Amino acid sequence: MSILLEVKDLHKTFHADHGSVKAVDGVSFTLKKGETLGIVGESGCGKTTLGRTVLGLIQADGGEILWKGQNITGRKKFPGREKMQIIFQDPYNSADPGYTVEKIILEACRDKKKVDELMARVGLTPAEKYRYPHELSGGQLQRAGIARALAMNPEFIVCDEPVSALDVSYQSKIISLLEELQEEQGLAYLFISHDLAVVRHIADRIAIMYRGKIVETAPARTIAEHPLHPYTRFLLSAVPGPFDSHPDIPVKTEEAVNPAGCVFAYRCPFAEKDCYTEDIPLKKKDTDHLCACIYSGYIDKYMSRI
Ligand SMILES: Nc1ncnc2c1ncn2[C@@H]1O[C@H](COP(=O)(O)OP(=O)(O)OP(=O)(O)O)[C@@H](O)[C@H]1O
Ligand SMILES: [Mg+2]
Repeated sequence: MSILLEVKDLHKTFHADHGSVKAVDGVSFTLKKGETLGIVGESGCGKTTLGRTVLGLIQADGGEILWKGQNITGRKKFPGREKMQIIFQDPYNSADPGYTVEKIILEACRDKKKVDELMARVGLTPAEKYRYPHELSGGQLQRAGIARALAMNPEFIVCDEPVSALDVSYQSKIISLLEELQEEQGLAYLFISHDLAVVRHIADRIAIMYRGKIVETAPARTIAEHPLHPYTRFLLSAVPGPFDSHPDIPVKTEEAVNPAGCVFAYRCPFAEKDCYTEDIPLKKKDTDHLCACIYSGYIDKYMSRI
């Protein structure tokens, strides 16, 4: 499969009165045509910032973004830009309240006939065409958002928690729709979520993010069955159902900011002295499995005994 998107050492820091936040801190990944990379991590870890920076909606402070081999870092417009789209986290916040569904989609494709086609494709009825966002359910409005993203025949869509604002009953329908569209059109997704249970099913590969950094990345199945990083194990132990086999990880709630060392050290129940001081990069632990933890092998043995 050919590489569509390559992100190298991406950085974005926000400066505010109360201090700076490294929202994206040295993130690298590649995405192939038709592939889904899941980005998982708790609120505030930098998922939305990563997705928006990749699309040039937020300017990166450092790093490189290559789209089909061309360097698009810092470029808002370039030939093919419309092939990269986004589905937003909160449909009510992202849709213009004064626009009907028709206008929302028309804004992207400017072709009335195509609006009907797209609406049918995402499961909206013709009657919904003239409705305003407040007259639609969250699921219907998110479908309009998907139709808008599809209007430009994209090859890549950042799906930023596309179902987290929806009722459970709509969630699986929207996920199935995204999967069908991917199958039909060979779309690649950067699928952002705080919910490993959701991402596990839709993603080919998963990257676990903590405080702006990817701390572990592997094929989805490897992450679910052989997690290495203590934070990934913690996320898995918190997922009910088939993940019950993962023992609880008693993470601490301390939120100290490390001047150096592992970003997770202050919450990690396994942290040793050097975790607070050593630079801990993502390292290859197995084929296609990277993890930023120096004690992951040791923890694995420890966990298998309890
Ligand atoms: N425009 C901004 N100005 C200042 N700080 C920001 C801005 N946008 C995001 N941040 C900060 O950057 C960090 C990452 O935010 P981001 O929205 O990317 O997280 P997230 O992983 O998408 O969270 P959530 O799961 O809640 O959507 C947070 O600490 C946030 O407060
Ligand atoms: Mg977000």
